[in-house]
Amino acid sequence: MITTSGLTKVYESRGRQVTALDGVDLHVREGEVFGVIGQSGAGKSSLIRCVNLLERPTSGTVTVDGVDLTALAGRGRRAGKDLRRARSRIGMVFQHFNLLSSRTVQDNVELPLEILGVPSAERSRRALELLDLVGLADKARNHPGQLSGGQKQRVGIARALAGEPKVLLSDEATSALDPETTRSILQLLRDLNRQLGLTVLLITHEMDVVKTVCDSAALMEKGRVVESGTVGELLATPGSRLAAELFPVGGHATGPDRTVVDVTFHGEAATQPVISQLARTYNIDISILGAAMDTVGGKQIGRMRIELPGRYEENVVPVGFLREQGLQVERVEEPRDGTAPAVPAQQPVLAKESAK
Ligand SMILES: Nc1ncnc2c1ncn2[C@@H]1O[C@H](COP(=O)(O)OP(=O)(O)OP(=O)(O)O)[C@@H](O)[C@H]1O
Ligand SMILES: [Mg+2]
Repeated sequence: MITTSGLTKVYESRGRQVTALDGVDLHVREGEVFGVIGQSGAGKSSLIRCVNLLERPTSGTVTVDGVDLTALAGRGRRAGKDLRRARSRIGMVFQHFNLLSSRTVQDNVELPLEILGVPSAERSRRALELLDLVGLADKARNHPGQLSGGQKQRVGIARALAGEPKVLLSDEATSALDPETTRSILQLLRDLNRQLGLTVLLITHEMDVVKTVCDSAALMEKGRVVESGTVGELLATPGSRLAAELFPVGGHATGPDRTVVDVTFHGEAATQPVISQLARTYNIDISILGAAMDTVGGKQIGRMRIELPGRYEENVVPVGFLREQGLQVERVEEPRDGTAPAVPAQQPVLAKESAK
């Protein structure tokens, strides 16, 4: 639904060049909620602004719903009719809402329709319908100043939906909101995604946001996408930093001659039976050192760090058993002196198995 390829953005500021995007290839599938996460300055806002051509990329292409926006933009300095039309099919939600304080809530929602030249009666009908959709039917005649932050953002979302977009872009839509309001706005985005089949590309610097609503995620660093995939794919990628942060597991061996492994569940396999079967089948005591599990679409997904008695070499058969159940098993090597690993917990060094 959204594809960027080789997207590059270089800003010129005071004679200095800043590369905000450095060859970004991103693919957002139709109907998914895709989260882009990264530290401040990573290029997230630049990316989203290039996706709807608010910012013209220095090079590379942006295709939204089959339309190459960069080709449209190339026709002139100002956005031509075709680009404007394509852009009206992309909704945008901002961190600071960007509502006009002198207009009523309803008039704010109608604004993009006015620009599109939609007749008054139709505008009004559509705005009220959208306000109802975001749960603000009773606030139509209020002014933004009379609303809470969460309500303002609902107006922002209603306005973004006015042009019946297929794609919604959101730049830190919840960063100015408290945790509870954040949850309700994320839930709204999720509902809209499901009800309207809306594809959502959202930018955030909060892992919780990704965890709550995203089907897929990408990690940005210094203008590049360093990891990207569905949550399941990320989880299945050994060493994925996003997966490690989405499903953090900690815990160390309780003594020498123990085997510690991370077991990743991202398919049909159910957790409890597998672990108890393992214990029963081989008559071994298994300790669960840490776990981060979630149920996504009725399937258990996540990671569990378990400890088996004996050295790794002695556990080839039980580890093989887990793999036969369709689980991904990675050995966690403990330092020889028994102290905590030198590597921070968020980036566990998982020894990749040699395929012997
Ligand atoms: N208009 C601009 N002119 C010059 N440099 C810019 C401009 N906009 C962004 N930059 C620079 O580009 C880089 C990426 O900025 P961007 O706003 O995309 O980051 P971000 O990931 O959205 O950060 P944050 O999480 O703080 O919003 C930064 O180094 C920033 O200073
Ligand atoms: Mg930003």
